Amino acid sequence: MTLASLAFPLLRPLLHALEAETAHGLTIKLLKHVPPGPATAHESRLAVSVFGLNFPNPLGLAAGFDKNAEVPDTMLAQGFGFVEVGTLTPQPQPGNPRPRLFRLAEDRAVINRLGFNNDGHAAALARLKARRGSGLIGVNLGANKESSDRIADYVAGVEAFASIADYLTVNISSPNTPGLRSLQSQAELQSLLARLNEARARQRRHPPMLLKIAPDLGDSELEDIARCCDGGSVDGIIVSNTTISRPPLGSRHAGEPGGLSGAPLFELSTRQLARLYLLTGGRIPLVGAGGIADAETAFVKILAGATLLQLYSALVYRGPGLVAEILAGLAARLAHDGLTLQTARGREAEAIAHQGSSGT
Ligand code: FNR
Repeated sequence: MTLASLAFPLLRPLLHALEAETAHGLTIKLLKHVPPGPATAHESRLAVSVFGLNFPNPLGLAAGFDKNAEVPDTMLAQGFGFVEVGTLTPQPQPGNPRPRLFRLAEDRAVINRLGFNNDGHAAALARLKARRGSGLIGVNLGANKESSDRIADYVAGVEAFASIADYLTVNISSPNTPGLRSLQSQAELQSLLARLNEARARQRRHPPMLLKIAPDLGDSELEDIARCCDGGSVDGIIVSNTTISRPPLGSRHAGEPGGLSGAPLFELSTRQLARLYLLTGGRIPLVGAGGIADAETAFVKILAGATLLQLYSALVYRGPGLVAEILAGLAARLAHDGLTLQTARGREAEAIAHQGSSGT
């Protein structure tokens, strides 16, 4: 049990009485004052080697929680196998007008239209350089809203963080920066990835590069992504970011514009994950994100084809104690079924890919 996971049940009523973004800001402030604590003991059966990195377990903190790299080591100490900071843009920017973050408690979901509010590359880089911890950190890269050359913004991200990130994520799937997601189209994606690979080749260190995609892509768009990425232009793909679709929701904030995450995203993002696993024949490591809230949903992501996992929204409702709970449950489930992470991976991809509606 970490201090943060013990404190969360006591603090939750206060945090949830506050406006959602105020609560998040307060959470980060509090976490800054929690000593990271001793390194977590990780179950050896949950270790994952991928992209030339040794992850102590497959469960990571998704981008958006620690946008400015303020608390990565405290979050690693909650038991996460890795933490992705960002999205970071070259210049600091304020993001969209508030309110822009909404808890949908009845739906165990979140809607955000933050719009890449962040301190910019330089501030986050300084924090990462000053850190003393040694756990794995990914840096999620984006483009400034007012940028005249978005590709150049991603190139700047590679140049800024290649020396320090364990991996880089190219985020072209946020719904909250107008026009950003068009970079997912085949022609734009090819030239973006070519430019980024050139930039990476020029650096002294060459961290793995992941692409983060939206769950709202149609079949042919997903096929294009698979084709673009199959030639080795990226090391892995994160499936997925938040959705602009609206499955049935019960909360009063259901109609807010923005990206939906949490439980209602699980089915769509898991189906897309399974489809991409089949389209790429399991050759590209996939990171499953979207609606993971317990060991069962984590396990289903692996059955759908995930090598690594990420979550964010469930933390809002369950707090950091959820991380140890998921990892223990996942290890128990694998042992019970006589599986390893490797043998479980993609086992149910066919069935999951064809479940329910097409999601397009
Ligand atoms: C996000 N997410 C996100 N993703 C990203 O690539 N860059 C970002 O800056 C953010 N920001 C962000 C803010 C908030 C408040 C939320 C809830 C989410 C998306 C996140 O990383 C993840 O892909 C989705 O939320 C799906 O996972 P969960 O939340 O359903 O576990």
